[in-house]
Amino acid sequence: MSPAQYFETDPAVPSQPFEVDLVLPGGKVRLVSDRGVFSTGRVDPGTSALLKAAPAPPGTGNLLDLGCGWGPIAVTLASAAPATVVWALDVNRRALALVADNAARLALANIRPVTEADIPAGVRFAEIWSNPPIRVGKDALHDLLGTWLPRLVPGGRAWLVVQRHLGADSLATWLSAGGWTVRRAASKSGYRILEVRPAAGPGPVPAAGPGSFPNPKPAPGPTPVPGPGAGPVPNPGAGPVPNPGARPVPGPGIAAP
Ligand SMILES: C[S@@+](CC[C@H](N)C(=O)[O-])C[C@H]1O[C@@H](n2cnc3c(N)ncnc32)[C@H](O)[C@@H]1O
Repeated sequence: MSPAQYFETDPAVPSQPFEVDLVLPGGKVRLVSDRGVFSTGRVDPGTSALLKAAPAPPGTGNLLDLGCGWGPIAVTLASAAPATVVWALDVNRRALALVADNAARLALANIRPVTEADIPAGVRFAEIWSNPPIRVGKDALHDLLGTWLPRLVPGGRAWLVVQRHLGADSLATWLSAGGWTVRRAASKSGYRILEVRPAAGPGPVPAAGPGSFPNPKPAPGPTPVPGPGAGPVPNPGAGPVPNPGARPVPGPGIAAP
C-alpha cells in the first residue's frame, strides 16, 4: 500500500479484511484490520513499542487515541481502563468502522470511534496516545498536534511514538520550542517514545470537561529534548520547564510482555 492511502477519508483500495492478533495483558485477542488502513494485518512495531513502554493509563476520564487506525491503541487502553471513555479519532472511515467492529468483538463499550467533528468542544483528555501520521507532512502534523495537545487536562500528558528516522527528534524539539515539556521516555529499535506535558505555569488549559481527574502518577524525572526549533505549537502553559534531573525510563508498559 502506498503511504498516501492510509489517511484517505474513504480509501480507494478495495476492502480485504485481515485478522490480526493483539496481545493484551489478559491474553491474545483476535481483531480485524483491512487494506486501506495503516498497518494492515499486524500491529505496527512502533505502536507495539509505545504500548510496551508507556505506563498504564489513568483509570477514569477521557483518553484520546489520536489517529486510531484499526484500533490497537484504543482497544488496549479501553481494556486496561474500562471506566474511561476512549475517543478513537481518525479521518479514515474504514479505520473507524474497524475500530467499532473490534470494540464490539471485545465488548468494549467505552470506545467511541469518531471524527474530529464528533468530539464535543468541551471534552478534555486525561491522556492522549498516538502513533501520529507523520506522512501527512510536517505542517499537517503540527496542525494536528496543535489542535489536540491543548485539550489535555491540567496534569495530563500525551504519549507519542515516532520513528527516529522520520523526525522524532525534530518533532520533540519543535514541541519543546512551543513550550511543551517533552521527555524521551524510551528509545527502542529506531522508535522514540515521547511523553509530552503542558508546561507548568499560568494560563492552563480551560476548565476540564467530563474527563477531569487527578493524575495518579507523579511525573518521572524528565529528560527534556533540548534546543530551539521551528514555529511554536499553541500551548496553554508558560515556557519550558527546567529539567529537574534525569532518571531512567519509567513504567512497565500496558502491553503484555
Ligand atoms: C501511523 S497511523 C497509526 C494508526 C494506529 N493508531 C496504529 O497504531 O496502528 C496514523 C493514523 O492517523 C490517521 N490520521 C491522519 N490524519 C489525521 C487527522 N487529521 N486526524 C485524525 N487522524 C488522522 C491516519 O488515517 C492513520 O490511521
